[in-house]
Amino acid sequence: MRISINDISCEVEVRGSGQPILFIHGFPLDHTMWNSQLDCFSQSYQVIAPDLRGFGQSHVTTGTVSMNQYSHDLNEILDQLNITEPVILCGLSMGGYISWEFIRNYPDRVKAIILCDTRAAADSPEAVGNRMKMIETIQTEGTAPVTTVMLPKLFSTESLKNRQEIVNKIKETILNTLTVGIVAALRGMAERPDSTELLSSIQKPTLLIVGEEDQLTPVDEMQGMANQIPDAEITVIKGAGHMSPMECPDQVNEAIKTFLDTHNLE
Ligand code: MLT
Repeated sequence: MRISINDISCEVEVRGSGQPILFIHGFPLDHTMWNSQLDCFSQSYQVIAPDLRGFGQSHVTTGTVSMNQYSHDLNEILDQLNITEPVILCGLSMGGYISWEFIRNYPDRVKAIILCDTRAAADSPEAVGNRMKMIETIQTEGTAPVTTVMLPKLFSTESLKNRQEIVNKIKETILNTLTVGIVAALRGMAERPDSTELLSSIQKPTLLIVGEEDQLTPVDEMQGMANQIPDAEITVIKGAGHMSPMECPDQVNEAIKTFLDTHNLE
């Protein structure tokens, strides 16, 4: 459905009924990366999966889009949907960076947290430099070089060899994304604050999920985060890389189901 928020109109998939789960996609993707989770959890929950500002079918804004701005957009989407009860947040990678801002800005809107393949630390100077180089390349050559750089880093060896359909789907999504949206998010990620200090203050049940071959946000880093969040558990997904919910949906859905059942979050 279309939802008008602040200065833009967003595409949001909303299905099912019950406790709301808000799915926040990664960069530079759209809400369809969650299709397997939306099919599974819409049976017993209300699933809400927006295309973030600048991605998928949502409107784009130029300049910089901060993680803070995305979090305000999500808050506005929940308002427009008349969701008053706290939600289960579920974000992947950039969706995780946005989740830290959402938790800071709207703590009362959060009931539990699921974070896939993400990190709490800010970008290193080297990572910021790489993002600036990518912006220059995109501005001259468009989105094709993004696929060349990112695809090998997003998936496990097994997925790159035997799960061609998801690799192709992500490639197509990236190629169809407007360069201004990608550039605005790259700037926003480069300037995001460090959220490591937030971890020990999180008072909500938290599940961390990470692909065992994740090159971008590796298992050790996520284990370190799990150690700092008081009520956190971590599941490592065998055979998956950075895109674990797409690469190994059954394992990821099982981990989420067990977490939700254990904490009576239905
Ligand atoms: C993502 O998957 O959202 C990106 O890899 C995040 C990033 O570039 O830091």
